[in-house]
Amino acid sequence: MSVFESKLIELPKVFDARGGLCFVEAKKHIPFEINRIYYLFNPAPATERGAHAHKALEQLIIAISGSFEIVLDDGYSKKTILLDKPWEGLYVPRMIWRDLKSFSSDAVCLVLASEFYDEADYFRDYNDFLKAVGAQ
Ligand code: TYD
Repeated sequence: MSVFESKLIELPKVFDARGGLCFVEAKKHIPFEINRIYYLFNPAPATERGAHAHKALEQLIIAISGSFEIVLDDGYSKKTILLDKPWEGLYVPRMIWRDLKSFSSDAVCLVLASEFYDEADYFRDYNDFLKAVGAQ
């Protein structure tokens, strides 16, 4: 997989006098079924998260509050994306290393994931990931 296969997806949004509303339908607005949702909140100052890649899992990452940066890395190219709009989701394909950083104090990072949690699906060692994609 290449970082160029990641993409920002603009989600349907409805604004009216009451405020904003966004929604996501699996296989319609995003290219996968959703099996799991998790979210990161109350980030510690200057914290960094992620630092892994997935063998099979695809996901959509949304800054539903605040902002943060994501660095995607396919072993050959890197791409940095700022997420700061609740109607924008970053689609991350399988086999992409990701680092999350520069969280604002009010940041909430919502993740829609294609798979249940499975530690065996993770690369947590960067060199193992590089070997798996043939970059080392
Ligand atoms: P971790 O993978 O370190 O989070 P991130 O990469 O987003 O910073 O996960 C932290 C802990 O939470 C780790 O012990 C695994 C556990 N966890 C689950 O049990 N289920 C889940 O869906 C997720 C995302 C994490």
